[in-house]
Amino acid sequence: MLGSPCLLWLLAVTFSLVPTTRPLAPQALKEEEEDETPGPPPPAVLCDYDSCRHLQVPCRELQRAGPKACLCPGLSSPAQPPAPPRLGEVHVVAEDSSAVVHWCAPSSPVHQYWLLLREGSGATQKGPPLNSTVRQAELKGLKPGGVYVVCVVAANGAGESSVPPAGAEGLEGVGGPAFGPCGRLAVPPRPVTLVHTAVGVGTVLALLTCSALVWHFCLRERWGCPHRPASQPTAGL
Ligand SMILES: *[C@@H]1O[C@H](CO)[C@@H](O)[C@H](O)[C@H]1NC(C)=O
Repeated sequence: MLGSPCLLWLLAVTFSLVPTTRPLAPQALKEEEEDETPGPPPPAVLCDYDSCRHLQVPCRELQRAGPKACLCPGLSSPAQPPAPPRLGEVHVVAEDSSAVVHWCAPSSPVHQYWLLLREGSGATQKGPPLNSTVRQAELKGLKPGGVYVVCVVAANGAGESSVPPAGAEGLEGVGGPAFGPCGRLAVPPRPVTLVHTAVGVGTVLALLTCSALVWHFCLRERWGCPHRPASQPTAGL
């Protein structure tokens, strides 16, 4: 409904401008070559910046280096600590008990990131500092069968982003989409462990069966067989 009057107005403006701008074009171009800013305002093109892309060049640098003007997402003040990053996909590699954690940058100036890792109610381990272009990190040496909470922290000159207190991360389900800086990480038991468990259970079952059979035949040898002829006359009556 609103679109068509706007479009008509835009078309009208465009067509009314075309005849007036054409004769001026050669002159205007010459002027632009000489002094830099009197042209039309820069087009509203967004910079090729993705807050979730690994090794993403900061948007301000894209603006400075790019041939054309582009727009960056707004950032909070550098005088404030950054907003929390958003945790993305957490990919667990069961074979070597490691995990790759992805995140997205907050709309704040960030100097560095680091990960926090806590297993159950244990102490929190702090990962090494990562520069501001980094959006993924690998966690190594996880325990097979372990359940962890992983959080990503952003920091700048004014401080570091907030992390929910232990046990209050507001996590729903394992591996689901996270909206905050934390997520849960469940490492499956090693396939080798599963094989060992299966072999162990199988051995125990086989031993139980063997001993049951041995007991059965021993009992029959000792008491079972002589009983049968004795009980037959009573059955015959
Ligand atoms: C940031 O760290 C990554 C991974 O260690 C590295 O590849 C990249 O060159 C670093 N970038 C800067 C600007 O230091």
